[in-house]
Amino acid sequence: MPITFSPIKRREFLTGTFTAGLLAVLSPKSIFSDEPDVRQTNIDHWVFLSDTHVPGDPQKVLHGQNPNENFIAVREEILKLTDKPKGIVITGDFAYLEGKPEDYAKLVSLTAPYTEKDIPVYVALGNHDRLNHFFAAFTQFKKENSPVHNKSVIILETPNCNLFIMDSLFEDEKGSGYFGRSQRDWLAKELDARKEKPALLFAHHNPEDLADNQHFWYVVKPRKQVKAYIYGHTHVYQQSIRDNVHLINLPALGWEFQQGKQPLGWSDVFLSENGIQLTLNTTDKKHPQNNDVRQLTWLR
Ligand SMILES: [Fe+2]
Repeated sequence: MPITFSPIKRREFLTGTFTAGLLAVLSPKSIFSDEPDVRQTNIDHWVFLSDTHVPGDPQKVLHGQNPNENFIAVREEILKLTDKPKGIVITGDFAYLEGKPEDYAKLVSLTAPYTEKDIPVYVALGNHDRLNHFFAAFTQFKKENSPVHNKSVIILETPNCNLFIMDSLFEDEKGSGYFGRSQRDWLAKELDARKEKPALLFAHHNPEDLADNQHFWYVVKPRKQVKAYIYGHTHVYQQSIRDNVHLINLPALGWEFQQGKQPLGWSDVFLSENGIQLTLNTTDKKHPQNNDVRQLTWLR
């Protein structure tokens, strides 16, 4: 079921008259009532994150990192942004390693300050996630509302772009991902119904690690409205181009595998009709890629 932002006029966002009724459904007020958030939402402003790998145990450390601490540190930065983001997209491996209920319970509490501020969080599930445990914890999302059976997918329609949050989790397979025929058919149909605006596709897996990479690309390649595929999984920050589609590999937040060479952090993102700007904010402020800005223009 698409979440449509487009009927709300851009000016209403900018002047703060939008009442966020729809978002209230997605982001129920948490019990941690706080001061009202007076910042205005910028519908073109988003936060992208990946591979948070949050365990239920807040003390747990792996690969020299405490994912709970990393999550909280970046959350505090994001909540202080003067230009309030429209939402947060997390490209998978949301949970620690096995998608346990206690991981998602912890994530519900860690994301509560976002929901309190009406900043919804959308997750493209990864191979370390589990569909049913995710839905059991994040009750603002309903499995039966997902238009693809046994997958968690959603379309976010904004004035400049349509964001397709997809699900490459394949629970029978260790590591690799799979969209499946019904999700690919759904994607083709929904893209064909939205030819007029740039489409950004989000999922966890890099194309090479998708078992149905080739069939997925049969859907993407001829549909020129697809401008970018945005993903995680590798814990490497990199970008490339395939058939004039930007492939944007977000860095991880939980940990990395190259002794600090790869950044950990979050991307501060602005969308326009013509492209995307990503500014990386690393957890280690001395990392050479802190404040790295990537300005990408749509290529087709
Ligand atoms: Fe991961």
